[in-house]
Amino acid sequence: MLIAGNWKMFKGPGETAAFCAAFLEELEDDRGVDVVVAPPFVSLQAAVAELEGGPIRVYAQNVHWEEEGALTGEVSRSMLIAAGVAGAIVGHSERREYFCETDETTALRAAAALESGLGVIACVGETLDEREAGETEAVLRRQVEAIAATVPEPPEGLAVAYEPVWAIGTGRTATPETAQEAHAFVRGLYPVERILYGGSVKPENAEELLSQPDVDGALVGGASLDVVSFAEICRTAARLSRS
Ligand code: PGA
Repeated sequence: MLIAGNWKMFKGPGETAAFCAAFLEELEDDRGVDVVVAPPFVSLQAAVAELEGGPIRVYAQNVHWEEEGALTGEVSRSMLIAAGVAGAIVGHSERREYFCETDETTALRAAAALESGLGVIACVGETLDEREAGETEAVLRRQVEAIAATVPEPPEGLAVAYEPVWAIGTGRTATPETAQEAHAFVRGLYPVERILYGGSVKPENAEELLSQPDVDGALVGGASLDVVSFAEICRTAARLSRS
């Protein structure tokens, strides 16, 4: 089971250091769950400094496929590795929606990061319009096949996150059955080891979502910003994977 906290554009270096110190105490026991936090770029080193040598890994929220270049605003794989970062999220729906990321750039980012030994959480998911038009499977197929085209044999370090866009930050979670159905569909397309669910995961709904057979963890936004609720979700995952 993998639980990853996507902090989006929240928490600078000071808040990040304080969160990590408090979170380590609150979590106590991580047996059975892999935990990742993904702070903004400027806070990565603060997180690494607090968490180094421990069980919790630090991921960036994006990574570029080129090594260096005239690419304002981008960060390369080797820069992340030098900063002690263990992986990156790619293709988040907010990147796709607001920053013109495509299936192709997502796949390039994923392939390059994996090639450098970074872990990757590659996000896919349909919008509300797409779901209502009955296009969920077609959209997932297009998004997953783009990743599979650049990474035909998914390595252990790759996780796919199914995040229905209509469930992100809306408080409207997919039902466990809806999540399971989408996860099973993705698994049928691509033999990736872990498929995470994302979209309004909270302590109150984590257990029913994480109990689904094809749900191997969660990508948590809002609830990962709070030490107590994020630790509770991680403990639920640990308990379920040990039972
Ligand atoms: P949310 O965000 O948990 O706040 O819905 C999830 C995500 O965007 O990864």
